[in-house]
Amino acid sequence: MGFLLLVSMQVFAQNEIVINTDLGKEIINKNIYGHFAEHLGNCIYNGFYVGDTNKIIPNTNGVRNDIIQALKELKVPVLRWPGGCFADTYQWKDGVGPKEKRPAMVNRWWGGVTEDNSFGTHDFLNMCELMGAAPYLAANVGSGTVQNLIDWTQYVNGKPGSSPMSKWRTENGRENPWNVKIWGVGNEAWGCGGNMKPEYYANIYRQYATFMGDWNNGEHLFRVASGSSGNDYNWTEVLMREIPSSLMEGIALHHYAVIDWNAKGSATAFDEKQYFTIIRNALQMNELITRHSTIMDKYDPKKKVALVVDEWGGWYDVEPGTNPGFLYQQNTIRDAMIAGVTLNIFNNHCERVKMANLAQTVNVLQAVILTKGSAIIKTPTYHVMEMYNVHQDATMLPMNIKTTDYVLGNEKLPAVSASASKDKDGITHISLVNIDPSKSQDIAIEMRGEKYAGVTGKILTAKKLQEYNSFENPENIKPVVFNGAKMTNNKLSIQLPPNSVVVLTLH
Ligand code: AHR
Repeated sequence: MGFLLLVSMQVFAQNEIVINTDLGKEIINKNIYGHFAEHLGNCIYNGFYVGDTNKIIPNTNGVRNDIIQALKELKVPVLRWPGGCFADTYQWKDGVGPKEKRPAMVNRWWGGVTEDNSFGTHDFLNMCELMGAAPYLAANVGSGTVQNLIDWTQYVNGKPGSSPMSKWRTENGRENPWNVKIWGVGNEAWGCGGNMKPEYYANIYRQYATFMGDWNNGEHLFRVASGSSGNDYNWTEVLMREIPSSLMEGIALHHYAVIDWNAKGSATAFDEKQYFTIIRNALQMNELITRHSTIMDKYDPKKKVALVVDEWGGWYDVEPGTNPGFLYQQNTIRDAMIAGVTLNIFNNHCERVKMANLAQTVNVLQAVILTKGSAIIKTPTYHVMEMYNVHQDATMLPMNIKTTDYVLGNEKLPAVSASASKDKDGITHISLVNIDPSKSQDIAIEMRGEKYAGVTGKILTAKKLQEYNSFENPENIKPVVFNGAKMTNNKLSIQLPPNSVVVLTLH
């Protein structure tokens, strides 16, 4: 009976996937699983950083130990800081040296609050060391100077005693350089970063990038140009045409899943139409990457310049009663769907996408962690990032996918999304998402190439799309063992419940 059921599922599976396990050649750069932390709302202050005199919340030099631990478990490979829009107002020299002497500033983009600069370069880079993440510094171009950026690179990367900046670093308590490789040269230069035209920004970029140079041990910096917003393809065209690849290692792209910038809707109280719209906008990432990559291919057929999606995620109205400038939102299983489909898109485009940074890590937008006093919760998005971290630095396995549609009214979307990889130990993982909130999906997967004996899995799902983890019920949504996959003759039969994310491990 069991056998018959299996056979019939394979014959009549609505969705069919063929994975070529012996044709993988591109590596899924682990930095695709990167994060972003801005001086915005309660991301840094009252989020990561609770102050180095705090005796109530356990911390290391002011950074919460529980957050460090959770992010270590997540295997965060890279963390972008200090913005976002904030980056182009940031004067890094105000954030080093004795804290009581640091000048304050107004955070003009995010709530007009006073920024006391108590969390600065040392705090951030030491924190990255604690969690084992590479730092990605976003430099001020919009209101900065070339000299300030030269000084910053020397301050963090110069050999001890090699320059006034490295001497200053030592005076401020850090002898050895942090060796920061990844640098953003401005942020959203077309908007909050200076409202520049692409031709103008390309010139400015060339100037800044020229003087950043290499660092003392001869290593090359990885410089990321401020990229397009969504479908501004002309921006990418101009930058690729005007900036030589000797000056640019990456070009950014920002894309948020939003219902309507003037009516974003609640993060938790939404209807299926709103859900459909958000997922459609998240899935647009595929078209954006494809079309920006096509432009990049024209100028850089060898794919030396990376596409860096250094801001992505769902964006809703702030939680009622919270500061509108703080962008604090809850996180439902809908956000898990956004994360699952987007990461599959990145994995499948890993030949060009070398880094991505979810916006933002703690208490802002599609956060992986929310805090309240001494408590933290892991959001459904956290769990997806954790389940998917098996793909980090693994070889992407190409696949063909035939999926049914998720239909709402006259509109439809592909119901199933997938990606697969083989890690350094030869273990194959497949990540699958069913965005349909009411229909489960039968999927037949044919594994071509390698022979497998069995399969195990984990699933993240919820009965209702609006469910989330609250401080009262922090483990409402968490990954559990998935028993819905069977392997027979190297063929997998899977039943994927509605609105679920599954990661399979093949032995
Ligand atoms: O992530 C929030 C903001 O969104 C960033 O500061 C900015 O770069 C983008 O517009």
